[in-house]
Amino acid sequence: MKRKKSKWTPLQIIAHIGAWIPLVVGLWDLWQGNLGPDIIREATLRTGKTALILLLLSLACTPINFLFKFRPALKLRRPLGLYSFMYASIHFAIFIGVDYFFDFGLIQDALLEKRYAIVGFTTGLILLSMAITSTIGWQRRLKKNWKRLHRLAYVAGILAVVHYIWLVKQGVSEPWIYAGIVVVLLSLRIKPIKNWVASLFRSRSSQTA
Ligand code: HEM
Repeated sequence: MKRKKSKWTPLQIIAHIGAWIPLVVGLWDLWQGNLGPDIIREATLRTGKTALILLLLSLACTPINFLFKFRPALKLRRPLGLYSFMYASIHFAIFIGVDYFFDFGLIQDALLEKRYAIVGFTTGLILLSMAITSTIGWQRRLKKNWKRLHRLAYVAGILAVVHYIWLVKQGVSEPWIYAGIVVVLLSLRIKPIKNWVASLFRSRSSQTA
């Protein structure tokens, strides 16, 4: 049987273009010498931040669907998750290739000694396992376990934020904003909270109708 070719919606096109923008801008800034005095650190920070934001956007798709009855958001979960993995891989590649120059002894020490690196590495492994199993074939093979495995996306979200909190200096508030977003997204997966928020949204929209 011939498989029906699915056309991309404008939202999907925007998401794909948007996900490439940080990479293109980063390469442009590198080319133009706009990455500041510490190029490696700037590139690490940018790719890490982008990986985190894309992961949280991917996690936001399910709540957006049930709160706003916006089904197209569901189609963005996989690509946004894969793009998050792409940036996390670049982030890690800069760390091992450029920062540590493939000195695996030093890399092992860093990964074992620095708690933020251990947590970052674990997050990377979760993203890798989800990226590999994100195809229809793996979905069929793993059956119920596929859903269980992909719930790890929330664990990845929490660990990515912990990684961020542990590596910034005390008093920097930005990682806590991301922590708040993860808490909200996780709470919206808890049935009573989910139903309560959904009923709030329904009553508001019936009042405005
Ligand atoms: C694979 C193992 C990982 C290692 C070894 C690692 C290492 C690092 C390093 C060295 C920094 C910069 C620290 C500094 O100079 O201040 C950093 C920053 C960061 N990383 Fe990672 N990372 C890893 C995985 C991840 C993953 C998977 C994510 C997100 C999904 C992530 C998100 C971030 C964020 C958000 C920042 C801070 C960005 C900022 O301050 O603007 N990292 N990471």
